Amino acid sequence: MFERDLLKGRNILITGGGTGLGRSMALRFAELGANLFLVARREEPLAQTANDIRAKGAKAGYVTCDVRDFAAVENAIAAAEKELGTVDTLVNNAAGNFIARTEKLSPNAFNAVIGIVLQGTFHFTLGLGRRWIEAKQPGNILNIVATYAAVGSGSGFVVPSACAKAGVLAMTRSLAVEWAPHGIRLNAIAPGPFPTEGAWSRLLPSKELEDRAKNYHPMKRFGRHDELANLATYLLSQQAEYVNGECVVIDGGLWLRGAGEFNDFLELPQQAWDMLEQARKK
Ligand code: HXC
Ligand code: NAP
Repeated sequence: MFERDLLKGRNILITGGGTGLGRSMALRFAELGANLFLVARREEPLAQTANDIRAKGAKAGYVTCDVRDFAAVENAIAAAEKELGTVDTLVNNAAGNFIARTEKLSPNAFNAVIGIVLQGTFHFTLGLGRRWIEAKQPGNILNIVATYAAVGSGSGFVVPSACAKAGVLAMTRSLAVEWAPHGIRLNAIAPGPFPTEGAWSRLLPSKELEDRAKNYHPMKRFGRHDELANLATYLLSQQAEYVNGECVVIDGGLWLRGAGEFNDFLELPQQAWDMLEQARKK
């Protein structure tokens, strides 16, 4: 579908790039000629993914960084520039999420998710956007949201994530206009369910919940990572230069089946809640 050098010469920073969808996007971008810089908290997955990218013949660097800490974000951008020369593309993919009944949340639980998703996205967007504007250099930003981020949507049982992702979508659309004169383009992808260790361990941590989600899906299947990575490639490529402020849903039609992906959790018995709460993971 894509020419092999579609992203040649591009220097792409991906948050949460060591695992899950971030890793899959990073590997796909590398195959298409891009150099990568990965950021997340745990070193091991970052080192592994950077090695796998280098094995494809691309440049790859990484640094550990908590996206909630703006000073750490500034240091990470400086490290990326040292490694790659300049960064021209940002993918805000890092996220935190869990299933919980909202009345059981602590304020800190809400803050943890808002801090990673909304503030973390703002931190990298601000850090790189400022540099691009000052250097009169164009830039490209892709934010990974969720289908429940859309205006008029939302979802029960993932309230901190729904609030944070809605904020990221508002940021995407606001800056698409504000920064267009600077040659900075922002878009978003709203994925439906794509199996990853991070999401599944927190949102669908049993075979029963997984089967239930699959059965509810109009296509009776989850997304494949290559499907999402190819959409991300298109949106970041020069072929999409006139696409700005858009949020593309990739969910096989699940969103249309019913707004609020987790609203069905209304029917979960207490026993299932006990299991979910016990399976909670840091
Ligand atoms: C209720 C919870 C909880 C849970 C944590 N907390 N898990 N509350 N239910 N399941 C509370 C804690 O008690 C604490 O509050 C506060 O949240 C912060 O928790 P920490 O563990 O100290 O925070 P931290 O180490 O920063 O971890 C952040 C995290 C964690 C979000 C809680 O899950 C994480 O690191 N996640 C990163 C990866 C991830 O979530 N990937 C999935 C993305 S999937 P107190 O008050 O006790 O201090 C995704 C998909 C969306 O977004 C759409 C799906 C289809
Ligand atoms: P994932 O593997 O858990 O990805 C989350 C990444 O964010 C991890 O690499 C994690 O690494 C990083 N991260 C978390 N907190 C961080 C912090 N404070 N600072 C820096 N990095 C942090 O899950 P995923 O499923 O691939 O999710 C990727 C993106 O897709 C997220 O934006 C998610 O909301 C979105 N999404 C996924 C699905 C799905 O079905 N999988 C559906 C809709 C949307 P560390 O823990 O090492 O920091």
